[in-house]
Order: sequence, then C-alpha cells, then structure tokens
Amino acid sequence: MAHPGKQAAALAALEYVENDALLGVGTGSTVNVFIDALAASGRRISGAVASSEATAERLKSHGIEVLDLNITGQLELYIDGADESNPALQLIKGGGGALTREKIIASASRQFICIVDQSKRVDILGEFPLPIEVLPMARSFVAREIVRMGADPEFREAARTDNGNIILDCYGFSITDPIALEAAINAIPGVLTNGLFAARAADLLLVGHDDGQVDTV
Ligand code: A5P
Repeated sequence: MAHPGKQAAALAALEYVENDALLGVGTGSTVNVFIDALAASGRRISGAVASSEATAERLKSHGIEVLDLNITGQLELYIDGADESNPALQLIKGGGGALTREKIIASASRQFICIVDQSKRVDILGEFPLPIEVLPMARSFVAREIVRMGADPEFREAARTDNGNIILDCYGFSITDPIALEAAINAIPGVLTNGLFAARAADLLLVGHDDGQVDTV
C-alpha cells in the first residue's frame, strides 16, 4: 500500500487523462499507483511511452500498449513523480535512476503533470542528493569535476541504469540557480543527464496529503 499522499496525487492525475490519449508515463512508486489506477478505471488509452523498463513491464502487465517515442512524435501529456519540487515547479528527479528517459519524454510532451506527496515540496532544491547519469568510463573524471563545483558525489554502487550507465548522487550543491546548474553539469563530458528538471519544469503539480486532500499548484 503506497503512502496515502502519493496515492491521493496519483488518483487525482487520472482526471487529466482523456479517452484514447497517448501518454508518457514516468517511473517510481507514485507512478505505479497511477498505472494501476488507470488500468482499474477502465479508461481506454491508445498507448503509452514508458520512461523505464520497470514502467514498461507494469504497463504491459495491465494490457496497456507500450509505444516507441520515435513513432508517436510529440505527446499530449506526461505524468511522473519527483524527489523534490520548488515553488517554480522545478524538480529533482532520478531517485529511481530513470532520469534520462524521463527528461526526454517530459521534453517531448506538451504538458507535464508531476504527482508528489507533501514531503517532496521544498523552497530550495538540493536537500535530496542530485543524481547524475554518467558513462561508466567517465565516472572518476566527472566525480572530480563535481568536487570542483563544490559538491560531494557518491557512486551508486551495484546500480546500472536502463541505458547501461552509472549514477553519481551528489550531495551539497547550492542550487540557487537551477537552470544554470543544470546546464553546467550537462556540459561536463561524460555526463548523459542530471536530475535537475529546471529548463523543462513541470506544468502542474498535484500534491497529495495524508488525509487524501490534493493541492493543485
Ligand atoms: C525516478 O527516476 C524518479 O525520478 C522518480 O520520479 C522519483 O524518484 C519519485 O519516486 P517516488 O514516486 O517513488 O517517490
């Protein structure tokens, strides 16, 4: 049973799904509730683009067709969770390691609805360690560059992304300008993506509370 706030946010997102929609679907425990609820609702969608192998498997287990983004083109709606959200709806994502595909699908979608529980809301991003997906041969180099930028990278050992890469979880970044930091980290050779969703923030945030109430931000 998911956290009640996650459950409430995920159920609220169902209201935004139109019949026969082509959806982008993110990764994580909140999205899992959304997928299960979507299937249980009986609402018919045309198919979904998945941000991870885990999400693809879950969609398929419910008989929802998983589509290739190269075939669908732009999507109307992307639904995903987050690890942190600030008042500008900029996010840290990637706790589940799916950040690169998540950022691609968010960027390829007209609307991005983010579903979180109240604990994910912060004034300034960065309490949650910032995940960075890195090509394996660049691990030490990128880690040194991150130290030079003032943060403390930790190798997520024994974890490989769906793309075959590694994750550095970075502690202690001072994220006063998320758009600038997102671009600066992405400019390090060997970085595939970082978990700041600032240039492409969410369009709408559904915040679930323990009592089942949902704020729309
Ligand atoms: C996956 O890589 C992440 O970006 C998730 O969206 C994020 O970790 C939220 O996960 P939960 O819904 O499990 O809290």
